[in-house]
This record gives sequence, C-alpha cells and structure tokens, in this order.
Amino acid sequence: MCGIVGYVGTDHAKEKIIDGLKRLEYRGYDSAGIALPINGKIQVQKAVGEIKNLEAKIASPDFDAPVGIGHTRWATHGKPTEINAHPHLNEEETVAIVHNGIIENYQEIREWLATEYGIKFKSETDSEVIAHLIGLFYNGDLLDAVNKAVAEMRGAYAIAAIAADEPDKIVAVRKDAPLIAGIGDGFNFIASDIPAVLKYVRDVYLIENNETVVLTKDEIVIYDENGNKVDREVYVVNWKADAADKADYDHYMLKEIHEQPAVISETLMSRLNPDDSIRLDDISLTKEDIDNINKIYIVACGTAYHAGLVGKMVIEKMAHIPVEIDVASEFRYRDTFIDDKTLFIAISQSGETLDTLAALRDAKDRGARILSVVNAVGSSIARESHDVFYTLAGPEVAVASTKAYTTQLICMYLIGLYMGSTKGTIDKEYYNYMLGELKALPAKVNKVIENEPVIKELAERYHYRDNVFFIGRGLDSGVSYEGSLKLKEISYIHSFAIAAGELKHGTIALMDSDTLVVALATQDKLYEKMVSNIVEVQARGARIIGLAKEGKTEIEKTSDEVIYIPQCADEVAPVLAVVPLQIFAYYVALEKGCNIDKPKNLAKSVTVE
Ligand code: M6R
Repeated sequence: MCGIVGYVGTDHAKEKIIDGLKRLEYRGYDSAGIALPINGKIQVQKAVGEIKNLEAKIASPDFDAPVGIGHTRWATHGKPTEINAHPHLNEEETVAIVHNGIIENYQEIREWLATEYGIKFKSETDSEVIAHLIGLFYNGDLLDAVNKAVAEMRGAYAIAAIAADEPDKIVAVRKDAPLIAGIGDGFNFIASDIPAVLKYVRDVYLIENNETVVLTKDEIVIYDENGNKVDREVYVVNWKADAADKADYDHYMLKEIHEQPAVISETLMSRLNPDDSIRLDDISLTKEDIDNINKIYIVACGTAYHAGLVGKMVIEKMAHIPVEIDVASEFRYRDTFIDDKTLFIAISQSGETLDTLAALRDAKDRGARILSVVNAVGSSIARESHDVFYTLAGPEVAVASTKAYTTQLICMYLIGLYMGSTKGTIDKEYYNYMLGELKALPAKVNKVIENEPVIKELAERYHYRDNVFFIGRGLDSGVSYEGSLKLKEISYIHSFAIAAGELKHGTIALMDSDTLVVALATQDKLYEKMVSNIVEVQARGARIIGLAKEGKTEIEKTSDEVIYIPQCADEVAPVLAVVPLQIFAYYVALEKGCNIDKPKNLAKSVTVE
C-alpha cells in the first residue's frame, strides 16, 4: 500500500527520499511524488507509474532542499493520476502532506471546507482534505495545526507534513497506519517502514498510535495525544545492511527463497535454551494460562492463513486443544464462540493486514488472549496483541511470501511443542525427536534448494499450461493451497488446490489431458491413499508432478515427474515440501516474463478491507 518517506538534514533530501521510496516499492504503488520547501515556497513534483518517472522530473538542481517528504500511492479514492498522487497542498500552497490510510469522514470535511471557506479541491482523494485542514489551522506552528487537523478526522492515517514557513521541520502523526522515525547524526527520517531508512540508520523509534512527532535535523520529539512529551526507547535494527537489497539475485523472491535456511535457523535457535527447552520468555503464557485455554482460533489471510492450516493440525496434535482456523475477512462476519478461555492466534508477515487486525480487535474485545505471529517489528498487529512471537525472517520485499511462510511454520511447531510439553500432552521422547527434526531443517532446506536446476527444468517444460491442480492429504493439503497461491499470484496461471480425497466428489470432472496436477505425497501414513488418488487423476489423462520423500519411489509408477525432498518427520515435511513449489512458481513466472516481485493487481501489505 502507500509508502511515506521524509528526510530532514543537510544533504539533498530528494536523493534520500527517492532511495527510501524505492525500498518501499514492494508495498505496491501506482504513482509517486515529492515535496520540498524551496525559497519560502513548497514545490511539488509527481508522476504516474514507476519511481523513475518521478526521478526524471526532479533532476533539475533547482529542485533541491535539505528537507522534504515523499510518497508512493496505491489508488483507493480516485484513479492513479498525477492530480491524485501525493503530496497534496493547501490552496495557498504553503503546506504539503503525504498520507497513508483512509480518512473516513473526508466527504463531510470536504463539504464543510467548500461551503464555509470556499476551498476548491483539485483531486478526488480523501487525503487532500488533510492539507486544507492543516492550512486552515496554520498560524506559524505546524505541530499545532497538525494536532487541530487530526482532531477533525476519523479513520486510519500516517501523515507527514511540511510548511513553507518552517522549512527545517517535518511533523508526522499516526493512527492505525505504520510509522517509524529513523535516528541519524545531524539528520533524521520519517517513514512507513524500516527498510526505507536501513541504508542510513540502525536506530529507530517505533511511533505509537495517536502520537505526533516533530523532526528537525538534530532532534526527534514525540508527543502523546495529550501533548505530553514521550520518552521512547530506541529500537536497534539488527538486520544485515543488505537485508533489504536484491544483492546478486534477479528478483527479491529468489533471494528470499534462498534465505530460508538461515532465517528458519534464526527463528528456531533464538527460541531454544542450551538444554533444548523452548524459551518464550517475552510471551507471558504461564502453565495456568495454557491449562485454562479450551479453544484456539487461528486467523490470518493469504499465505499466513496457509501457515495456520498447518499450525492447526500441529497444535491439535501436540497440545490436544481444538483449533479453528479462518481467513480474517470471513472470521469478522461470522458468529464465533470467544471468551476468556480462548487463545486467538493472528499470523501476519506485515502486521498491518486490515482484516486480520480487525478480527484481532474483535476477539480481544470479547475477552480472548491474543498471541500474534508477526514479522514486522512494532507493526499494528504486534502492538495490539498481548504477546508477540516474532518470525525472524528479516524484510520480505517480494509480494509473494516465501521466507515469512516457512518461519511462520517454525513458530507453529514451537507453539505446539511448548503448549504440549507444558500441558503434558507430549512426552520427552517425542519432544526431543521433534526438536532434532526442527534443527535438521535448515540443512535439508538447503538440499531442496540445491535441486533448483531440476525444478527449473520442470517449470520450463510446463509453463504453458493453463490449469494446474495441487492435491495432497493431511498436512500436504495445507501446503497444496500455498503452492497453488504461489503459482497463480506470480504467473497468472489458473490453479486450484484441493484435499486429494475430496477430488472424486466433483472436481475430478475437470481432469483431462490438458491438466497438470502437482501431487504432494510426503505424509507417510497417507502415502498409499495419496498414490491411489494420483492413479485416479492419471486415469483421466492428467499429467502428474509428484512430490515425495527420498526413498518413497512407488510414486514414480504413477507420476510423469517426481520431485524428492529429504527424509523427515511427517510433521515438519511442509517446510521442505513448500520450497520446490516456490521455486517452481518462480521459474514458471520467469518463463512467462511476468513481473515476479510486483505481480499485477497485488500489494505487499493489504491495509484496506
Ligand atoms: O502481511 P500478511 O502476512 O498479513 O499478508 C497476508 C496476505 O496478504 C499475504 O500472505 C498474501 O497472500 C501474499 N501475497 C502471498 O504471497
């Protein structure tokens, strides 16, 4: 969704802002713009399409200042045009703003400003009202004007504002939309997300809801909603400097697939004590709390939901607690049975997905204990949860989620094992066996990645197919959904996932010689049943790519191609099985010439309903 970057210092602000906006590209955008205070006026440049179009417009040395704000816009209210792009100005062009979020009462404010003050609006956006409101209240003090303006607004926002009369300052404010301040030496940043500033700073402030921030080159002052100064702890980002760069890879997605052994290891090892007990020390679930839980809801969207499908089976098996799983957009509107014995687990890479956040709030209001599994530190979902289990995946830039998914799976195993061992529903032997299996995963994922040339060849052979089905049983059925989503979202091939046993109840009617079926058969106890399902689709002429553990060669008789993953416990097979599917989707999309990191119609973080 939209991205905000502001810089205040002594250098060329436009260069820093453009660099930051490029690092937020992964959020998705359709236009971009920048505003600088120059010689007592605010100058704005905007362009539709890629950031390079904006760069071309701001190349002139006259368009330069040591302070500025920039924005990438993902159209919600009004088409992706230059007029609708941010920054927006007030009528006198003395104030400029960039905004991420939605102002719910903008129509009301628009009417009021038009009738009372004769203000003429230029754009169709909800955001433009913010610039006019701040302009209206401005009396030489931008902080005061921003505070008065937000008092008139309802909705979600992260806003950064500059004023021609205070050219050394940025004022920013947030409510339900992410915002961080980057702390430099003689310069400071404001941004929607950490990757935007990672090249320049390591120390950041995570801005909380309803806080206002004033940035000058030497100082960042945070105020709470009552105007009191806030003493915020510095958050030190410990990602590697190149964490948000593409390095030598052609695409972020491929880089992130290759990072999986390292991030799985990091997510796992950060939670293990030397004696192999699981350390959830920052998660305040006591034995008493765990014994009190009689029901768990896992709620998420997209890939995170697919991690939850595996999580449900794993937690039920290990902790013997019934787990319901739902996509957040459905959960919100159905009757659920939540009380103070309910544990609500929200899974989200970005921590900003609106449906997941809204479902979380609803469950919290009704008394549930909230545990979130989140990648983005300080995000809304993390902040509004009672406990947070961070996936240490580092920044995930490609729209198609890969390393976030596998680290979410690691969290599911750790939660299951922790609850199971605390409740006594698993014994020491099983616990030790599972930990051994988990610890072996990074090396095994590496082995799967080494098989990349074989999977690439399959992708080259089958990339022209119009219809691909993913089938599996048990944990494999959860992974099938993820394999199918990966393929459709980046290659635009129609694909469909279904529990293999369900095929004969209707879907098998679609099978013919034009169909490609990816059949997952990694679950030992379901292997034979799965092979029977493969025979059924093979009999209808479908082409089969089988996926099984090494040594399980029976599948070769019924499949046209077979991808093998290393031997492992059934429980952890999803972590290994998904990797070839990610690689397959990547190379199919590459063959088709698709925009892999930024697929059409998709944004990295979905902050609208
Ligand atoms: O940031 P979140 O994990 O909450 O995002 C949820 C989905 O929007 C996300 O997983 C989406 O489905 C990805 N494009 C999948 O690759």
